[in-house]
Amino acid sequence: MLSQSQISSFNKDGYLVVENFLGQGERENLMNRAKEMIDDFDPSSSHSIFTTNEQERASDEYFLKSGDKIRFFFEEKAIDSDGNFTVPKQKSINKIGHAQHALDPIYKSIINGLNIPAMGRQLGMKKPRKLQSMHIFKQPNIGGEVGLHQDSTFLYTTPMSCIGFWMALEDANIENGCLQAMTGGHTLPLKKRFKLAQTGGTEFEILDESPWPDNELDLLEVKAGTLVILHGQLPHYSAENTSNKSRQAFSIHLVDDNCHYAEDNWLQSKI
Ligand code: FE2
Repeated sequence: MLSQSQISSFNKDGYLVVENFLGQGERENLMNRAKEMIDDFDPSSSHSIFTTNEQERASDEYFLKSGDKIRFFFEEKAIDSDGNFTVPKQKSINKIGHAQHALDPIYKSIINGLNIPAMGRQLGMKKPRKLQSMHIFKQPNIGGEVGLHQDSTFLYTTPMSCIGFWMALEDANIENGCLQAMTGGHTLPLKKRFKLAQTGGTEFEILDESPWPDNELDLLEVKAGTLVILHGQLPHYSAENTSNKSRQAFSIHLVDDNCHYAEDNWLQSKI
């Protein structure tokens, strides 16, 4: 559970760093489970790439229907212009998402043991719901950049309620693309929404045209096992991984079921 000073710090900064949140056993179990899943995954069944430029996601059916499934998305640089893999399968995956918290017994049991909804309640949620999980790899040498964004852009409720719980499974630092955050930037308006377009596919709806403030981003260099809680309006970013070490992380997003979940959010889950 969070202390009062941790809650105040989250409210002031828009994020909170909690060290030693995940034990070594939990981290290893999550990473080993992901490895098994990738071993079992047939890469010829999908060529869905997680396009990170401006956080535009591949708007294909494989991605759009992944809200209540466990699916695999490639790093952009894992496949060359001729469609050939540039790296072995285990090193090609950008992320696994988005419902292993509900569908996979190992993920489910570890995540249920972390009492994440209780922290959501401490941070003001009435009815926290685990909506989306992602196992993020930031593969060595090719791990893609994730542009500056606010998570409520993608998981929009009225009023806004999304909170992200990001856990470092390995050390994260400037070399391997750690999180970077605009401290206090959660008080900015939501810039845009990523939503299903009426004509099919997805689109961004611009809500606020003003540019991002010129604030420097703070580097969140953290040790493996650290939890970073992210307010849904906090602008955050992560750079490419140009090092030879991966930067695995697991994240889960809560929304408040007391708020209205937009029917045109990209993620529509039936579970
Ligand atoms: Fe994010």
